[in-house]
Amino acid sequence: MRENNISRRDMLKIAVGASASITTGMVAIPIGTFQAKSLITRTIPSTGEKIPVVGIGTARRYDINSFPEKRKQLKKVLKEFITIGGKVIDTAPSYGSAEEVVGDIINKLKKREEFFIATKVRKENINSGIHEVEESFKKLQTKKIDLFQIHNLVGLNVMLPIIHEMKQAGRISYVGISTSFNWQYPEFIDTIKKEDLDFIQVNYSLASRQAAKTIFPIAQDRGIAVLVNVPFNRGKLFSKVNHQSLPDWAGEIDIYSWAQFFLKYILSHRAVTCVIPGTAKLQYLLDNMGAAQGQMPNSEMRTQMKRYFDGLM
Ligand SMILES: NC(=O)c1ccc[n+]([C@@H]2O[C@H](COP(=O)([O-])OP(=O)(O)OC[C@H]3O[C@@H](n4cnc5c(N)ncnc54)[C@H](OP(=O)(O)O)[C@@H]3O)[C@@H](O)[C@H]2O)c1
Repeated sequence: MRENNISRRDMLKIAVGASASITTGMVAIPIGTFQAKSLITRTIPSTGEKIPVVGIGTARRYDINSFPEKRKQLKKVLKEFITIGGKVIDTAPSYGSAEEVVGDIINKLKKREEFFIATKVRKENINSGIHEVEESFKKLQTKKIDLFQIHNLVGLNVMLPIIHEMKQAGRISYVGISTSFNWQYPEFIDTIKKEDLDFIQVNYSLASRQAAKTIFPIAQDRGIAVLVNVPFNRGKLFSKVNHQSLPDWAGEIDIYSWAQFFLKYILSHRAVTCVIPGTAKLQYLLDNMGAAQGQMPNSEMRTQMKRYFDGLM
């Protein structure tokens, strides 16, 4: 039954990626086959703009200035990303050379308008904050940045008004804040309640579910888009499921790898607009983007996924 589903689906798709395959609990299936521009999208509440639900994070793996040979690999990943229909890429000045690498690759691809670039500022002092922001424009080689976020709330009171002014001036499309620390949630929540924000970015995964209770409902109420970071708990989730098979029922919701299991759990929360897994390998890209297709878990399935994950040794 499941094999029939796969072959029917594959017949409907056009191959745009590498001919890699992933092994699930039952059967090896091809990845890298996508219906052109058929990724699931969600709406940014403040404007109605739609973005695909899976993006790319660039922490650590795009800080490659000391390894020039890796730039070619990342260029392939970003080229494939937009070919499939991907858009959102998240970076930051604190990710070493990542902004410069992303800016250089996007410039070489000559596809700036196909990307939604999110970056951050993390400075307490106004002068160094403005300097960091201007450096981001230069490194990313763009006149307009889609989303600017106050990184881990650092310099919030000083830099948020500056980012708002830049939005007014048309240099930034969206304003946001980010965290990946549960201990920061009280201040984060306070900020979401009182500031005018288009986006928040927060950690949420099967291993860290607190944001769904404390932060997502407020974002929904206030009409704020949600980006989810560290969806694999920086890769540690894969160690937890090491050598374990996917449950048979995963195929019912078009899940064919553990990465898709983790991402679809996140995406099936209605508050989530987009998830940004750290992605620097072509095979991982094709795998992760698969979570932006097919069926999403309903609330019963979400409970089942949680129980299954919690029960793993
Ligand atoms: N406060 C903040 O604003 C904040 C904090 C943290 C992160 N972020 C953002 O969120 C993004 C995501 O977080 P993250 O990159 O730290 O961690 P993550 O997305 O939870 O995990 C990344 C790790 O997962 C592995 N991986 C990716 N796709 C895979 C797949 N399909 N199968 C198996 N392994 C896979 C990668 O492996 P390899 O190492 O082998 O490539 C990498 O080690 C960051 O890149 C950054 O943009 C923001």
